[in-house]
Amino acid sequence: MNSNLTSAQAMELEDNYGAHNYHPIPVVIAKGKGAKVWDLEGKEYFDFLSAYSAVNQGHCHPKIIQALKDQAEKVTLTSRAFYNSELGTYEKFITEYFGYEKVLPMNTGVEGGETAVKLARKWGYKVKGIADNQAKVVFVEGNFWGRTLAAISTSQDPSSYAGFGPYMPGFLSIPYNDLNALETCLSSDSNIAGFMFEPIQGEAGVVVPHEGYLAGVRALCTKYNVLMIADEVQTGLARTGKMLACDHENVKPDILVLGKALSGGVLPVSAVLSTNEIILTIKPGEHGSTYGGNPLACAVATAALEVLRDEHMAENSERLGELFRSEMRKLQSEVSLVTLVRGKGLLNAVVIDDHEESEAAWNICVDLARNGLLAKPTHGNIIRFAPPLCITEAEIMQCVEIISNVIKAHAKK
Ligand SMILES: Cc1ncc(COP(=O)(O)O)c(C=O)c1O
Repeated sequence: MNSNLTSAQAMELEDNYGAHNYHPIPVVIAKGKGAKVWDLEGKEYFDFLSAYSAVNQGHCHPKIIQALKDQAEKVTLTSRAFYNSELGTYEKFITEYFGYEKVLPMNTGVEGGETAVKLARKWGYKVKGIADNQAKVVFVEGNFWGRTLAAISTSQDPSSYAGFGPYMPGFLSIPYNDLNALETCLSSDSNIAGFMFEPIQGEAGVVVPHEGYLAGVRALCTKYNVLMIADEVQTGLARTGKMLACDHENVKPDILVLGKALSGGVLPVSAVLSTNEIILTIKPGEHGSTYGGNPLACAVATAALEVLRDEHMAENSERLGELFRSEMRKLQSEVSLVTLVRGKGLLNAVVIDDHEESEAAWNICVDLARNGLLAKPTHGNIIRFAPPLCITEAEIMQCVEIISNVIKAHAKK
């Protein structure tokens, strides 16, 4: 821990020397363990963001950190110019874990999304028979899959795309949670290679589609020979109460994108899983990344996946998610400031007030931090609550009390 600094000094340094591309809650985290973190002055907080669902297994999980240490002493990076001792074993493990034939390893979530889009285009040309440069990929309104030029080219959020044009062609946009719109789109254009979407929209404010949407998407993609691409970077890995959010409707996407918690918050590790037919359309030299599939990432990701399964984190997420939402709904019935409670598993949101420009959600989050709980608004008036999945029932109830007290105090203002 950098114990020579105060929180005020650490914030000033970031402000003075770092780009201003984030607007953090004014808390300086210096240590983490399980569902809790501590600031430089030693104040304790419950972490209800989990680094945007990257720390599902809890901060500094001992098994994952041990895997990191063990591998760090052997070899960390070889590049893919050579084989490495960990990659094949990891590839076998992760493909069997999720029931796919092949994996393409990358680092960040957005690289996973880019890889999926490239695969869809390549498959479109090589397998579906789309004419060169004509392939299209369909996205939905409210999507968020990162900050690259391709990702922002599919965004409707001006804070993502404005000022960064020109944008990438070949992308279509339809409303989310609308199977009629999807069918109209897919039936109108045989150059569509893929449909990429989040099974629950995380950054849009934990938007849960109606029951049957995932199964409907699966059926339509099959009917029109379009690849179903599920971006489970945020919803995957036990966050929503199942290993994958698609498991809620027993649906298997053609391409599955994972990231974030694939390393338990230790390293950027992402993975794109699919079939031989799709993944083998990419030939040597056509795609890759220096760090993708590095031995350190392979060791860490294997441990991270084992922890999720061995510690029954999906079950904990499902059970405590139900409890959390029912407690938040009690709060909603008492306080008109809370207009909506929604989510699945431990990916939940509470909608405050009813207009995006309202400062209420930000002020509530600042007060939650003062009271020992870290959360952050997404889209102005929506607060996402997503603690590490190792949190206990007693801790959830303690947190419900903190959240209720703070929101009730704001309701009186
Ligand atoms: C659904 C989804 N996809 C992709 C990403 C991008 O991941 P990364 O920030 O690791 O590039 C995010 C990040 O929040 C996300 O929520």
